[in-house]
Amino acid sequence: MSTEKNRLNHIAIIMDGNGRWAKRRGLPRSAGHKKGAETVKDIAKAVNERGIRFLTLYAFSTENWQRPAEEVKTLMDLLRQYLKYDLEEMRKNNIRIRFIGERDMLDQDIAESMAQLESKTAGNLGMTLVLAISYGARQEIVAAAKKIAALVKKGDMSESDIDLKLFSDMLYTRDIPDPDILIRTSGEQRISNYLLWQAAYAEMFFTETLWPDFSAEELDKVIEKFYSRERRYGKI
Ligand code: FPP
Repeated sequence: MSTEKNRLNHIAIIMDGNGRWAKRRGLPRSAGHKKGAETVKDIAKAVNERGIRFLTLYAFSTENWQRPAEEVKTLMDLLRQYLKYDLEEMRKNNIRIRFIGERDMLDQDIAESMAQLESKTAGNLGMTLVLAISYGARQEIVAAAKKIAALVKKGDMSESDIDLKLFSDMLYTRDIPDPDILIRTSGEQRISNYLLWQAAYAEMFFTETLWPDFSAEELDKVIEKFYSRERRYGKI
């Protein structure tokens, strides 16, 4: 048994189940996403209050672009609203905001608001909230490989410079520690192209709770379980 308490710097979440939450109530899927956005606020606040340094949320995957146009619009409109009002609130609470994902897929006004928020909050010393938007982990890894290939081709780097640290630094998440906890809500037990590199040693937690119903109390239960787990990182 490990006697040292596990260190918790970073929680990553796959927010799943908005659609089912709405369906169970006879509401349109958009109502589930709206309620899910409220939960984002509550959980970000809770994580910040608990002194955890990083929270990464899967808000929109590269695969989500294939959803019906109407649903993509709902999600993008929610994001627009979020960028304007709620994230501004977080900025005031000293939260630093970062985005990971393929920005060139996004509407220009959204991409611009994202860049602005990142620079406005860069000096904030509270928690870093990382929103994965238009994000896919395989795409991220391929982009990193391309960056390295270009540097080697230019002669700025040689093949022998490529190691785990260098590869990590080429990902969107450079400077962000790997997640210690990965939570997926709604009963699904898949990683769905999320943080494939970074979650190599994350402790996984799956809950039946649908994202709009996920609460700070349930988060605390996950954190408690995390501290009771033994992390060996492949050693004995
Ligand atoms: C999964 O539910 C959730 C998403 C695809 C998007 C997550 C988005 C939010 C929580 C709201 C917007 C967030 C921000 C930051 C503005 P699902 O639609 O796959 O649910 P289902 O599996 O029950 O259909």
